[in-house]
Amino acid sequence: MPKTTSPSRYTITAALPYTNGPIHIGHLAGVYVPADIYSRYLRLKGQDVAFICGSDEHGVAIPMKAKKEGVSPKEIIDKYHGIIKKSFAEFGISFDNYSRTSAKVHHQTASDFFKKLYEQDDFIEEETEQLFDEEAQQFLADRFVVGTCPRCGHEEAYGDQCENCGSSLNATDLINPKSTITGGVPVLKKTKHWFLPLDRYEDFLKEWILEGHKSDWKPNVYGQCKSWIDDGLKPRAVTRDLDWGIPVPVEGGEGKVLYVWFDAPIGYISSTKEWAEREGKDWKSYWMDKDTKLVHFIGKDNIVFHCIIFPSMLKAHGDFVLPENVPANEFLNLEGNKLSTSKNWAVWLHEYLEEFPDMQDVLRYALTANAPETKDNDFTWKDFQARNNNELVAIFGNFVNRVAVLTHKYYNGVVPTPNTFTDLDKQTLQALKGFPEILSNSLERYRFREGSQELMNLARLGNKYLADEEPWKLIKTDEERVKTIMYVALQIATGLAILSEPFLPFTSDKLKKILRVVQNDKNEVISNESEKSIGWSNMSSEETLLPAGHTINQSELLFRKIEDAEIQQQLDKLEATKKVNAQMDKAVTPEKDTITFDDFTKLDMRVGTIVEAEKMPKANKLLVLKVDTGLDTRTIVSGIAESFKPEDIVGKKVTVLVNLAPRKLRGVESQGMILMTENQEGKLVFVNPDEDGVGNGEGIS
Ligand code: 2FM
Ligand code: ZN
Repeated sequence: MPKTTSPSRYTITAALPYTNGPIHIGHLAGVYVPADIYSRYLRLKGQDVAFICGSDEHGVAIPMKAKKEGVSPKEIIDKYHGIIKKSFAEFGISFDNYSRTSAKVHHQTASDFFKKLYEQDDFIEEETEQLFDEEAQQFLADRFVVGTCPRCGHEEAYGDQCENCGSSLNATDLINPKSTITGGVPVLKKTKHWFLPLDRYEDFLKEWILEGHKSDWKPNVYGQCKSWIDDGLKPRAVTRDLDWGIPVPVEGGEGKVLYVWFDAPIGYISSTKEWAEREGKDWKSYWMDKDTKLVHFIGKDNIVFHCIIFPSMLKAHGDFVLPENVPANEFLNLEGNKLSTSKNWAVWLHEYLEEFPDMQDVLRYALTANAPETKDNDFTWKDFQARNNNELVAIFGNFVNRVAVLTHKYYNGVVPTPNTFTDLDKQTLQALKGFPEILSNSLERYRFREGSQELMNLARLGNKYLADEEPWKLIKTDEERVKTIMYVALQIATGLAILSEPFLPFTSDKLKKILRVVQNDKNEVISNESEKSIGWSNMSSEETLLPAGHTINQSELLFRKIEDAEIQQQLDKLEATKKVNAQMDKAVTPEKDTITFDDFTKLDMRVGTIVEAEKMPKANKLLVLKVDTGLDTRTIVSGIAESFKPEDIVGKKVTVLVNLAPRKLRGVESQGMILMTENQEGKLVFVNPDEDGVGNGEGIS
């Protein structure tokens, strides 16, 4: 059942990313921005929060990547742990701790967890037939094997999960399994493993989720859980025959490691321990006290692990609280296509910051306003531009700038003393006081998208108020009235400074500097001069946010317009990626039959220079060339007119096959052939392997 009373503390976890690549906008939108908004919001309200994450460094994905890059798994995890951690910090993701599962504390915690379950007889120990790659002499599980999903027919399902339908699978469930190491068909071979009998937890899961969380879990999460539980749960192996991971810490476990999805969620606990140790806190209260609210932020492909498997582990262990909620998001697409690391179809965070420096909040906002909360959504650069130009610049930034500039122009930056409030003033101030609750209402229900729009509504309220009252006109006729208007507008700007913090932390900081308000370590916001508290919770009281007489700083622009050319550049970049992918997808021409050395010596290839070039009349593709071969100057007809203009190639050195039998093309005799190949964009280029974009395996024609 959802907790009705206010919890004493919150443990908020965000899915531990695999360290096999950098992170992109899909990760940010699906997990880390919403988790960060939620954590910042709770801290602003003065709640006790542990916001926990770290790198997921085990599992098959790591050795696979290492093999591909020709380095050790350790080099891979060190490299990507660094890159990922930096990206999170740069985007203001305010983890209290970012650990890694290769850390000693984690190995110890996960081992102890396994041992406790083992000692309590919570596992089934069994020798079963598993998939084995005879060529690689290795058992295949998880990402080492792909095949057809028995549930949805997807042909690229992994050995532990189908990413298409979200089903959690055993490798032996796959139809037509194939090794991803050698491409071979695996055989069955006996091996011993420890299984978590999920079927033993069916009753508990039914009561806890199906009865207890029907009303407060998101329908997408609840629905997935219901379908798994209704289908019946089976025992799942929690160990693997692998040499990368946490060694199985019990007798008979030699040469085996814990399944990555057994150890990774325990990473939340070990990361909390690391944090508590550093901060002098008691980690146990964040995991074992029933007054702790545990919330897991994840993407939809992780639902089964966080709602079925990890809770069954926690339940079996017995000492831990269960998650109160698992607000999983759906997936974000990019310009109509699925985000894909291998196809480079992504906006990488480190690249975004190179192209839009200091514009983290714009991406945070665009991703939140369009977050895939209830269904998959599409990120488009046009929408990104519109969110920035039409909302952040035109509404939020414009309002704040007008308020700060006019306060300096009329009052040298000092908040004026208001006169009598009109009905509109009173209504506006009243509306301002209502915003914390409106936002709380959205955020407490994990509706971050809605929350971002409510925040923008506060800026809209301010903009409309100024547009209706027109202080810049009234200043000529009624100076006293303008004082009241500016006073009201300054209160709204201060409200924005506070309430925007979870969504736009960098902007909120800038705005607090402009208004000269600071947040103290009790999570209240105080003004420098009056020491007056104006935190989230007391914003709704009768108190003034920014008192008369308080001096503000000069304005600085909070946002800048994004030009069409910048967006076009991003679209061009994606277009180039598409072309590269199309090129890669084109099968490399199979090798032709072997020829003898004698055959080769029959070819007479020479360097020549094009001395004349003209288009063949009425033929789109053909150019008629005169080529100086060193032997003679001869005519060659070449099908390159779509790639070259005649005037651009005169003087160019080329490789010529000079003893090809002459043949007539459109009535002109061609006496040889110029050797050409295609570059990555499908354009013909003269044979020269150093030429830009010519890939290995390109045929010569
Ligand atoms: O899907 C993933 O990226 C996983 N590495 C998430 C792990 S979450 C947790 F359990 F640690
Ligand atoms: Zn499937």
